[in-house]
Amino acid sequence: MNKIETVDLVLRELVEDDATNEYVDWLNDKDVNRYLETRHVLQTLQSCRDFISSCNADPGSYLFGIFLKSNGRHIGNVKIGFVNKIYARGQLSLFIGDKDCWDKGYATQVVRAMTSYAIENLKLKKVEAGCYEDNLGSLRVFLKVGYVVEGFMRSHVERDSKRLGCFWLGILADEFQQ
Ligand SMILES: CC(C)(COP(=O)(O)OP(=O)(O)OC[C@H]1O[C@@H](n2cnc3c(N)ncnc32)[C@H](O)[C@@H]1OP(=O)(O)O)[C@@H](O)C(=O)NCCC(=O)NCCS
Repeated sequence: MNKIETVDLVLRELVEDDATNEYVDWLNDKDVNRYLETRHVLQTLQSCRDFISSCNADPGSYLFGIFLKSNGRHIGNVKIGFVNKIYARGQLSLFIGDKDCWDKGYATQVVRAMTSYAIENLKLKKVEAGCYEDNLGSLRVFLKVGYVVEGFMRSHVERDSKRLGCFWLGILADEFQQ
């Protein structure tokens, strides 16, 4: 099984048994899901298990759980998806579901480690990511790792009857520094 280590975290492939009630609760939590497309459907143990098994069956998708090294606790997920083998591109998405774990630098470690995995192991030449215009924490994480804003999609999504734009970011293999 693939395993990636950062200073504070272990990332490993998820299996269906990793879908717990706590994991379901993260995805139904309005603070966590306000920037996630998963918010449009009430999440259940079954929907989370189905998501894990469909990602694991998809050759263009690499789903990892994010676990604290100190105590093994599962705190979120990260995925490289939509891998286009012809153009050697993929899209990175993540969430830290456990709110006690926000603002500790964990997402920055995750994005750096998964970008490295995408470039070194999957041999991608470009990694992309998107975020809502008001998700300034997420934008900051990608910029810190070296992603650049490649575009801004106006009036792209809607939340609470308000239209919002989205940033589109990318990093090239030869720009990425560990
Ligand atoms: C967004 C998210 C991934 C950030 O994770 P995190 O572990 O807290 O991120 P880090 O601690 O590595 O870095 C956050 C950075 O953003 C900054 N930040 C956080 N909130 C901010 C805000 N409202 N405005 C500006 N900067 C902000 C922090 O200060 C930090 O930057 P710094 O290291 O320069 O001080 C996490 O909050 C999350 O998963 N949220 C819910 C789901 C989600 O938004 N997923 C991403 C979808 S694109």
